[in-house]
Amino acid sequence: MDRITVVGAGHVGATAAQRIAERELAREVVVVDILEGVPQGKALDQWESAPVEGFDTRVIGAQGYEETAGSGIYVVTAGLARKPGMSRDDLLRMNTEIIGGISEEIARHSPDSIIIMVTNPLDVMSYVAMKKTGFDRQRVVGMAGILDTARFRSFIALELNVSVQDIQALVLGGHGDSMVPIVSTVTVGGIPLTEMLAADRIEALVDRTRKGGGEIVSLLGTGSAYYAPSSAAVQMVEAIVRDKKRILPCAAWLEGEFGLDGIFLGVPCKLGSAGLEAVLEVPLTDGEKQALNASADAVRGTMELLSL
Ligand code: APR
Repeated sequence: MDRITVVGAGHVGATAAQRIAERELAREVVVVDILEGVPQGKALDQWESAPVEGFDTRVIGAQGYEETAGSGIYVVTAGLARKPGMSRDDLLRMNTEIIGGISEEIARHSPDSIIIMVTNPLDVMSYVAMKKTGFDRQRVVGMAGILDTARFRSFIALELNVSVQDIQALVLGGHGDSMVPIVSTVTVGGIPLTEMLAADRIEALVDRTRKGGGEIVSLLGTGSAYYAPSSAAVQMVEAIVRDKKRILPCAAWLEGEFGLDGIFLGVPCKLGSAGLEAVLEVPLTDGEKQALNASADAVRGTMELLSL
């Protein structure tokens, strides 16, 4: 890919840009932020690491969108980060305005691009981006499920003292508090987790995963998680750039899948060069269906607060 833009040169955005550059996923990475000098400074610093790290992807900082023209992908991380005691929904008003403005710039400068939304509340911000750009659902996908499953997998690996690589997990629904882990699908080297761990221990790990974002927020004191969120976003970038057809849990606009319509929600997605190439459905228990519907209601409730 010729060019990838990361909007927001904060913790998540700058780390995502670094990962994209180090993996040479594009010829050029542009980092955009409203802060004077910050995107340029971080981009230059990253570029100066290129001779040591051995990558040739140029990293460029900008305040505007001229430099981003023709980008194949925009990873959108701009906005306010969650502070201790602040719910995701508190961020709604400010971030809606920010994401609306950015979306218009994206549509103007790169009308064929794909948007990966990271800014929270991300299901709703994905909706704002889809509305404001007029892009179809293939080209607006939100990052949440990969992060939630990564947290879950990392906790399972610690609990069982096994490699994270051998753990597969699926989480549906909204990000964080309302996520719906599909425990029956979790395997460790192909063995169902339910055969390896007692139900109450699994529930404890699910609970820790659900609160995973908050755990990091309270440890950090200021700011929120960014290493794992940027890894998750860049896994989506890589699936698209390399046309890998990966099956990853992402927030997608649903058109009847799982009995839901007109809403962004975390579901298993096929990601390839066209962006969202398919939404895959999995059979759910009654309890899981109820939890998914409750998660959808929570996202809908937030969508209704928007004035677009
Ligand atoms: N255009 C570009 N950048 C913007 C804009 C805008 N209109 N408004 C704010 N920003 C920039 C800020 O200047 C800041 O540098 O977005 C950046 C956000 O960075 P951080 O505050 O460090 O937040 P970060 O931890 O990166 O989280 C960003 O990702 O995971 C989510 O919940 C998180 O929504 C938050 C987002």
